Amino acid sequence: MTMLPHSFTMIATIIIVLVQTLVGVSSLLQTDKISTLPGQPKVKFHQYSGYITVDDQHQRALFYYFVEAEKDPTSKPLILWLNGGPGCSSIGVGAFVEHGPFRPGDHNVLVKNHYSWNRVANVLYLESPAGVGFSYSSNTSFYNLVTDEITARDNLVFLQRWFTQFPEYSNNDFFITGESYAGHYVPQLAQLIVQSKTNFNLKGIAIGNPLMEFDTDLNSKAEFFWSHGLISDSTYNLFTRVCNYSTIRRQMIQGNLTDVCATINKLVFTEVSDYIDQYDVTLDVCLSSVNQQAYVLNQMQETQKIDVCVDDKAVTYLNRKDVQDALHAKLIGVSKWSTCSRVLHYDRRNLEIATISILGSLVNSRIRVLVYSGDQDSVIPLINTRSLVNGLAKEIGLNTTVPYTTWFEGKQVAGWTQVYGDILSYATIRGASHEAPFTQPKRSLRLVKAFLERKPLPSVV
Ligand SMILES: *[C@@H]1O[C@H](CO)[C@@H](O)[C@H](O)[C@H]1NC(C)=O
Ligand SMILES: *[C@@H]1O[C@H](CO)[C@@H](O)[C@H](O)[C@H]1NC(C)=O
Ligand SMILES: *[C@@H]1O[C@H](CO)[C@@H](O)[C@H](O)[C@H]1NC(C)=O
Ligand SMILES: *[C@@H]1O[C@H](CO)[C@@H](O)[C@H](O)[C@H]1NC(C)=O
Repeated sequence: MTMLPHSFTMIATIIIVLVQTLVGVSSLLQTDKISTLPGQPKVKFHQYSGYITVDDQHQRALFYYFVEAEKDPTSKPLILWLNGGPGCSSIGVGAFVEHGPFRPGDHNVLVKNHYSWNRVANVLYLESPAGVGFSYSSNTSFYNLVTDEITARDNLVFLQRWFTQFPEYSNNDFFITGESYAGHYVPQLAQLIVQSKTNFNLKGIAIGNPLMEFDTDLNSKAEFFWSHGLISDSTYNLFTRVCNYSTIRRQMIQGNLTDVCATINKLVFTEVSDYIDQYDVTLDVCLSSVNQQAYVLNQMQETQKIDVCVDDKAVTYLNRKDVQDALHAKLIGVSKWSTCSRVLHYDRRNLEIATISILGSLVNSRIRVLVYSGDQDSVIPLINTRSLVNGLAKEIGLNTTVPYTTWFEGKQVAGWTQVYGDILSYATIRGASHEAPFTQPKRSLRLVKAFLERKPLPSVV
């Protein structure tokens, strides 16, 4: 007799909780669903964006933009994409400049990107850590010193809560990808996932032009500049023998740049010129960014195939009130959205954390690893990345299974690749920038597709 009302209460409670959960989840999904982005062409896939709180007490929340695969999303893998910086936006760069479904064009319209990564996967773009883009911390003391460790932890909490909101994706193959400083974020997050045993079906990681080892990565800049004709023989000598780039950067971070290093640094960048995009030394620059007057005099980008001013257009687009409303985005603690954070103080000493060894431990946990390089980048050139991966393979005893060879997209060489064991591979993307999918969208899509499908890159025409 006494049990009956109790059971009834329990069942009633369970039902109420269940209903609340279901309603909660679906209303969250409805809130985050994007009906349409201003200026976008009509599409059939769904898009979502909004916030996931990662710290309830300090009201810290990360902003995401999720694009479902164009066709058959349930059977396609899920990719998390992270841009680097540290402090730069995955939405402003990854989604709207590199491989999202749309790029901002002229006259306030979005243009369909035919080589969007959502042709092969569901893609989740995350602005991380808090303080980047639309992501925020209401307690601004969070911004005083953010580290790799904090970033990885927040990203893990984000994923746990995001999967709660999108449980239908928890069984899909999951990949973590990114570029540049995400050479820290991606392996560190993957390692934390493995360690915390919340593996979310993690199958692999892919990192492009990644920072993995400070000295090696920074010091190949001299050879890259010199071999591409950007600096003279004598400057090359000074830049390698008297003061190299890792020393310059280390001194800058520590605030004690010596006179001799300052002089060499100035000499190098005077020879290189402001009118060279260091992220792609063969690409023309967006003149409006370098120099407003020169832009008016010299509008030669009209004939360019690649819109070198797309970064600026993304900034304009993401700062429109109607766009922010459509994205469910808020500006908290900042007056405008910017590509790279102006509020965040990232611990620059973290740049020296080597992440190459983390790739080794991921490989040992049977997580597939792809490292790729846009081969026109002088910021993290291919030279150092290729040798780091090669060195890692030797160290962990992985033999070459595909010797260094060309790979193809269509009838042209798309780059070179080498595969180690059945788990680690390296590839260059020919003619690509630091942001490879921006300048070589088709080749980049081909590479990522092969990686996701676990297929070899096309080795013949
Ligand atoms: C903000 O965060 C700092 C550091 O975690 C903490 O000491 C402070 O009490 C917090 N402030 C508020 C208003 O919660
Ligand atoms: C860079 O310079 C530092 C300090 O002189 C030196 O220890 C290091 O070996 C140099 N690295 C390279 C690759 O030349
Ligand atoms: C620069 O500062 C760092 C850390 O404060 C110190 O270890 C280093 O010796 C300094 N270098 C020079 C050249 O003063
Ligand atoms: C790698 O190659 C060496 C030499 O051919 C061989 O002894 C070794 O067993 C190979 N390792 C693996 C993991 O296949």
